[in-house]
Amino acid sequence: MNILLTGGMGYIGSHVAVVLLQAGHRVVLYDNLCNSGIGVLARLEQITGKTPVFIQADVRATKTLADVLKDHAVEAVLHFAGLKAVGESVKKPLDYYANNVEGTVSLLEAMLDAGTRTLIFSGSATVYGDPHYLPLDEAHPLSATNPYGRSKLHIEEMLRDLSVADPLWRVVCLRYFNPAGAHESGLIGERPMGVPNNLMPYIARVAAGELKELSVFGNDYPTPDGTGVRDYIHVMDLAEGHAAALAWLVRHPGWHAINLGTGQGYSVLDMVAAFTKASSRAVPYRIAPRRAGDVAACYADPGKALRELGWQARRGLLEMCGSAWKFQNLGA
Ligand code: NAD
Ligand code: WQD
Repeated sequence: MNILLTGGMGYIGSHVAVVLLQAGHRVVLYDNLCNSGIGVLARLEQITGKTPVFIQADVRATKTLADVLKDHAVEAVLHFAGLKAVGESVKKPLDYYANNVEGTVSLLEAMLDAGTRTLIFSGSATVYGDPHYLPLDEAHPLSATNPYGRSKLHIEEMLRDLSVADPLWRVVCLRYFNPAGAHESGLIGERPMGVPNNLMPYIARVAAGELKELSVFGNDYPTPDGTGVRDYIHVMDLAEGHAAALAWLVRHPGWHAINLGTGQGYSVLDMVAAFTKASSRAVPYRIAPRRAGDVAACYADPGKALRELGWQARRGLLEMCGSAWKFQNLGA
């Protein structure tokens, strides 16, 4: 298939590109590089031996995007492009609505213009808000607690409206839990600009000695060791989930939401222990106050993905930490 990945040079998109290129698809990466670097392209070639097409442009450039979709006879779009920092979204909400919501409207208009109606959207478990029950299945009520989450929720609703209005659309919102780790080569991975907000990249930089210590945000949650519990999913498992969703979508018109998680929750201290083991480095930490907006525990019911897509996560915590450590030393 001819597949376009908006935001395809970023953390998740680049790993999905590897899986799609290796499966023989023709891949177009469409990215404005606001949170990624051109170096990713050479790394993708090194890993796959194939050269994806790269277009540096913004998803809000509707005409450019429509032309690219037509020029490359694109049959399906995977939409990763967007901003994703929760804290920043509170300070700059308009940036989030402009990039995420407006960006998606622009993409949908370009797709309509080009006659492409197959879309996989990067959703997030953040749309479940504060869990009413665990594990989180797709029927759990949706809510948002910050502008980033609200932008994801708006986009899901918009996509559902569009599918109701025009039954030719095939749309799946994949709700990611906590993506972690890197490609096994260590050549691509997560490279946040500045001090990381997320746990895994922060731990990696503490292990490397670039940051002094990890602040563990709260140890008085109602969890086994008191620290926050999350469903960390290896980015390569996540990438394979996209390939499975793409094959499935061809046979399933309409709007769908599917969790991509492992179903297994790990605490912050579990992650520190796993990273220490995988890297053979110390990860000094101190207990700090809770971070505003954090929930105690969040993990998926991954049953729908298995039933519908025939997909489930295969890689464990040590592979996540080992590959993240390799990327920290080789790729970052
Ligand atoms: P990322 O920042 O590494 O990748 C996003 C890419 O999109 C970057 O390469 C960036 O340059 C590009 N981009 C941003 N705005 C753009 C625009 N207006 N036009 C063109 N390109 C643009 O982020 P990621 O971790 O790979 O996340 C990908 C998607 O998955 C995002 O939509 C994010 O919200 C979603 N998601 C991520 C996580 C996570 O923890 N990483 C969890 C759930 C959902
Ligand atoms: C994980 C755990 C923290 C950093 C966020 C977004 C979510 C999704 C994924 C996009 C929590 C603890 C963290 C640190 C810590 N993104 N922690 N010290 O908050 O589950 O999810 O990323 O959709 O929307 O909210 O991920 O990696 O920030 O935190 O103790 O320096 O690690 O309190 O328990 P989170 P995270």
